[in-house]
Amino acid sequence: MEIRITPSVLNADLANLSAEIARVPSADGIHLDVMDNRFVPNLTFGLPVVASVRADTDRFLDIHLMIADVDRWGPGYAEAGAESVTFHIEASEDPVTLARTLRAAGARASMALKPGTAIEPYEDLLPELDMVLLMTVEPGFGGQAFMNSVLPKIERTRALIDKHGGQLWLQVDGGISAETIERCAIAGADTFVAGSAVYRSDDPDAIVRSLHEQAAAALG
Ligand code: DX5
Ligand code: ZN
Repeated sequence: MEIRITPSVLNADLANLSAEIARVPSADGIHLDVMDNRFVPNLTFGLPVVASVRADTDRFLDIHLMIADVDRWGPGYAEAGAESVTFHIEASEDPVTLARTLRAAGARASMALKPGTAIEPYEDLLPELDMVLLMTVEPGFGGQAFMNSVLPKIERTRALIDKHGGQLWLQVDGGISAETIERCAIAGADTFVAGSAVYRSDDPDAIVRSLHEQAAAALG
């Protein structure tokens, strides 16, 4: 299984986004957390900032939309040139149309689930998707404690992905660190968001590389 580390810049210096992104050359993508103060009780940045980042870098952009009315606002991020766009299933009225629109615009389509949302009702959606993101904290803030209670859902989601051919990536987001990444990899995750673990370090790229090695080693 290929391992990917996608650092979140949520807790980086957002006044120097370009420089912060350049600090993690070993990362497989840059995770950008869009929050609208409606779907989650926090506000970050939106399409103008993502479009500016797109113009500034060739890096793989992994957009995590924590926004209401995502059927309306989500496609713009794909049209802006992001490689991957993740919508929350709790915020979408028509996820099939949304996923198809994202793919038609050239992006990978991805569905996120909050910790309390089950995967099973969405099995039929998997052929429309390129990734499933399982939140391992309540969405809204960086620096929260990893929720072990999500581990069985990671295992069940891996089983469903394998049943459907195994192409989808399985991303985890929230509280991922040297302490928690191995249990996520063993449960079946292959793509890891790490925010504070990476950006609260003096050497973010060294953390990215060591998280990658740890996850790979856990898979033996
Ligand atoms: C939380 C965001 C995460 C966050 C992760 O709602 O989706 O991407 O930045 O930060 P850490 O790794 O600190 O939990
Ligand atoms: Zn995120």
